[in-house]
Amino acid sequence: MSIAVDNISYTYGINTPFEKTAIKDISIEISNGDLWLFVGHTGSGKSTLINTFNGLILPQKGSVSVDGEVTGNKNTNMKKIRNKVGLIFQYPEAQFFLPTIYEELMYGPKNFGMSLGKEEIKFYMEMFSLPLAYLNKSPFNLSGGETRKVAIISVLCCNPQYVVFDEPTVGLDYTSRMEVVKAIKRLNTMGKSIVLVTHWISDFIHLKPKVLVMNDGQALFKGNFDDFIQLDRPVLEQAGIRFDQKLELYRCALVHNKDIRDKISII
Ligand SMILES: Nc1ncnc2c1ncn2[C@@H]1O[C@H](COP(=O)(O)OP(=O)(O)OP(=O)(O)O)[C@@H](O)[C@H]1O
Ligand SMILES: [Mg+2]
Repeated sequence: MSIAVDNISYTYGINTPFEKTAIKDISIEISNGDLWLFVGHTGSGKSTLINTFNGLILPQKGSVSVDGEVTGNKNTNMKKIRNKVGLIFQYPEAQFFLPTIYEELMYGPKNFGMSLGKEEIKFYMEMFSLPLAYLNKSPFNLSGGETRKVAIISVLCCNPQYVVFDEPTVGLDYTSRMEVVKAIKRLNTMGKSIVLVTHWISDFIHLKPKVLVMNDGQALFKGNFDDFIQLDRPVLEQAGIRFDQKLELYRCALVHNKDIRDKISII
């Protein structure tokens, strides 16, 4: 079971003065249990690519299939695909519209004809360190970090197999960022397939994610973490990627000393 992206391209505003090819000839397979980091400079096509995973954007060339069903085909049940592939946008809290958090969490599952038990809600609230008493609160009266967490939980409550995050920690303080990172790791160890557009690569070193580097709409690199770490600096610079100290240390250790590498990866 997987999301299979086969040689897709997408151009915005075809035949208008604003025509822009956002992704070109991209192929990738997100298999069950994978953790993928999508990285690359601004405008490189990351958001456009992930929006094809649940049919929000239909590629003009190539195909995207989710567990064998091609998005946009007339026989494909798109609602089922949207239920399987949970997309969490960059500022998901912008979509809140109901009076209480409880109603926000119930909305998605109801829409997909699912029932959502108290245990599941409790499970996710605890995963993100949110008190259950918050369920009766308005989603508009929370701190920035809490709001983001509720927005993420509202997607998880639909129980998607594939969870796709577009920069989920952007604008969060350190503590909230770490809580979200911890929850994402936990979701992955629970067996969810995760795709994460992020600039915080070093938060995920020890999970050995797969990495896709986007550059100007194309895949500059696609592969395992250790190969990514050893990419030539000019390649990384072209994609706007700078290693922090932890990644530099890991790279050094990878080349010179395996014992040190394993220690760094759990920092
Ligand atoms: N709705 C749109 N209409 C026209 N062009 C768009 C639209 N959305 C994105 N683009 C263009 O497509 C290209 C890819 O954009 P995309 O948002 O996918 O990049 P990104 O890698 O997610 O960038 P960022 O890191 O800034 O979020 C950019 O040149 C962008 O200007
Ligand atoms: Mg984006």
